[in-house]
Amino acid sequence: MTLAALNSPVGLNESQLSIVGRQRLEGELHVNGAKNSALVLMAASVLSCDSIRLRNMPDLTDIGTMAKILISLGVGFHLEGSSAVLRSDGLTRHDPSYDLTRKLRASFFLIGPLLARHGVAKVPLPGGCRIGSRPVREHNKGLQAMGVRISIEGGVVSAEVQGNHGRLQGCSIDLDCPSVGATETLMMAATLAEGETVLRNAAQEPEVVDLAGLLKAMGARIHGAGSSTIRISGVRKLHGADYAVIPDRIEAATFLIAAAATRSRLHVTPMEPNHLNAVLAKLEEVGCSVNPQGQGITVTTPGQLRGCDLRTQPFPGFPTDLQAPFMALLTTVQGTSFVTETIFENRLQHVAELQRMGAQIRTCGNVAILEGVPMLSGVAVTGTDLRAAAAMVIAGLAADGVTHVAGLEHLDRGYARLEERLQAVGARISRIGATRPALLAA
Ligand code: UD1
Repeated sequence: MTLAALNSPVGLNESQLSIVGRQRLEGELHVNGAKNSALVLMAASVLSCDSIRLRNMPDLTDIGTMAKILISLGVGFHLEGSSAVLRSDGLTRHDPSYDLTRKLRASFFLIGPLLARHGVAKVPLPGGCRIGSRPVREHNKGLQAMGVRISIEGGVVSAEVQGNHGRLQGCSIDLDCPSVGATETLMMAATLAEGETVLRNAAQEPEVVDLAGLLKAMGARIHGAGSSTIRISGVRKLHGADYAVIPDRIEAATFLIAAAATRSRLHVTPMEPNHLNAVLAKLEEVGCSVNPQGQGITVTTPGQLRGCDLRTQPFPGFPTDLQAPFMALLTTVQGTSFVTETIFENRLQHVAELQRMGAQIRTCGNVAILEGVPMLSGVAVTGTDLRAAAAMVIAGLAADGVTHVAGLEHLDRGYARLEERLQAVGARISRIGATRPALLAA
């Protein structure tokens, strides 16, 4: 080991971002395809034997993990630039391994397409994660209503369609909560079921609408995606399709929030402003100027920023995935802010890290109460989950001095080459240690 390695804040196997804060950002940031859409669209490709071409795929470790899971089941997968071509005519297995699925909760969503295609699936329970317990009760309950017998043993959900020649049966399902994953799982299952399925209290997230877009392009009959009631009339077979993933609203908003936190001017494109109304309203409430321009949004900070209250909600409310990044912004605005997390029970872990940078935050249950301070100070911090890691980067960009952000295995799940893109708009940010794994090498 060299002296430099001994002095480095980085362990031998761990990479970090080093950020020299307080640089003004200026320019344009390009938004990649949405991770949460891309993952479920990949799962949906299993519903057809024909080729599915997905354009605008983000280059993320989560996408690489999902590709590996699909390949292990017999799905053909190859990349052509930023497009992925998937072909499931060779789908032979219905039992993804725990080794792969434990890395990616969204892999559980495969249970719907596998049951629709083969009438049988064995998928490990995804388990909880750092932000909460993340049950899949609603997914299983809906599948049971469609004629599936489910047993859970040794942490694995074994599911088999009963009777009806192995074909799922359309039915009426009332979700207890508008779960995004349950809505997507059941929507995919219902496309090949016999008869009509009505999903009530469905999630209305843009990613659900995007999934319906692909499924319709494959020949599915779906009405109402984006509202709380979705009707799916089952068909016998789905065909191939060529489909572009929507821009990532969470990535777009992360960039807009970074512009506000550094009191900068950034143009973020392409994006769909209607996917982010609740966030854009909060940026305006704290004093940012938010202007639609072309296919994107320009954010500027004309004067002093002030605190606001926010509460995470299912779409179209303020997204839980942006609670941590927005909190990083609120640490340095004038006055008091109340941030209430209502979706996940353990999603305030970034508070302790922000406090280490000098943020004044108290928590009471699921509420964080912030008193803005003039400036954060750069220290070594850890991103404890994907969006907490993004919050640490935003805090580091705004802070005085040098911030080292660890936990990049989380960050790389959802943001492709973040440091290179931020460098291009003036940030002094670099990666120390191992370089980020390329797609499929995760
Ligand atoms: C998806 C997103 C994730 C986002 C979350 C909420 C993907 C890959 N991930 O996760 O980034 O943070 O939506 O917007 O799309 N619940 C139950 N029972 C269930 C299922 C869920 O009580 O059976 C509860 C959860 O505990 C949580 C809430 O519903 O409180 C939302 O979870 P859900 O919408 O299912 O999240 P995911 O689909 O896992």
